[in-house]
Amino acid sequence: MKNFLSVKDAGNIEDLINSAKEFRKSPFIKQDLGKGKRIGLLFLNPSMRTRLSTQIAAQNLGMEAVVFNASQDGWSLEFEDGAVMNGSTVEHIKDAAPVLGRYFDILGIRTFPSLKSKEEDYSEYVINQFVKYAKIPVISLESATVHPLQSLTDIITITDYVSIKNKAKPKVVLSWAPHVKPLPQCVANSFCEWITAWGSCDFIITHPEGYELDKRFTSQAIVTNDQEQALKDADFVYVKNWSSYTDYGKILENKKSWMLTNQKLAVTNKAKVMHCRPVRRNVELSDEVLDSSNSIVTEQAANRVWAAQSVLAKILTDMQ
Ligand code: CP
Repeated sequence: MKNFLSVKDAGNIEDLINSAKEFRKSPFIKQDLGKGKRIGLLFLNPSMRTRLSTQIAAQNLGMEAVVFNASQDGWSLEFEDGAVMNGSTVEHIKDAAPVLGRYFDILGIRTFPSLKSKEEDYSEYVINQFVKYAKIPVISLESATVHPLQSLTDIITITDYVSIKNKAKPKVVLSWAPHVKPLPQCVANSFCEWITAWGSCDFIITHPEGYELDKRFTSQAIVTNDQEQALKDADFVYVKNWSSYTDYGKILENKKSWMLTNQKLAVTNKAKVMHCRPVRRNVELSDEVLDSSNSIVTEQAANRVWAAQSVLAKILTDMQ
């Protein structure tokens, strides 16, 4: 593994899952793997789970982890080739990224989409320029269109509960939820492509009309606007908001009735409820669901460490 930018870089997903579970049992079994190596974790946007879990994962492997809150503490970056930099940007990515490539052995980047230009966001304009100019392995800590460390975590979490239920192919539902702000499609896109590549569940997406995701991510899934029908007999319900892809970056109508409640869960197979967090309580998900025994959101967040450690270990091994 050279970079980890999407499921296309994952290789064998089962191997990543098994390695994550080994690290969960024994976090320090490969403490020498990252000895003498340094990872830079660059945040152009806020984060709690990704920042802390990736730092812990790197340290478990013996690496030094340096976090740089680039949006607050760094120079304002220019990404446009040939730009005349007489505005607010101070440093070009062509100048900044090679320096990072000299300071670090691996670079992790978090960046969100603008939600203004679909073409620019879906070309992964920002993270690809870090890859191009840093010339060291780059890990996505969430980019404009995907969140692969989150998705690997999500699948690890599902497998934890599938084995308990001893069910070969669980029914997994991705259910759109209301929100007060326009959010990226990243988590939903990424979950779709990882679940599809994993191939070990029946997968249904449900959302109100107008919230169709990019077909490149959903072509293998069943998609319905009937939430109740989708939830029927579900084993897992992954709740997530995203803004419109078609009317790019817009909230079309705040469908409050789409918030998951215990009453809606009644038609499921005592479904486990997932969310990547941060979650807006009583907007996206009701207190009664989040605080119930159906909710596995804390276990899901805890697994972020093992997913990150599994990916870092693979990159470090392949660097040897
Ligand atoms: N789920 C997730 O990526 O959380 P953070 O934004 O806090 O990192």
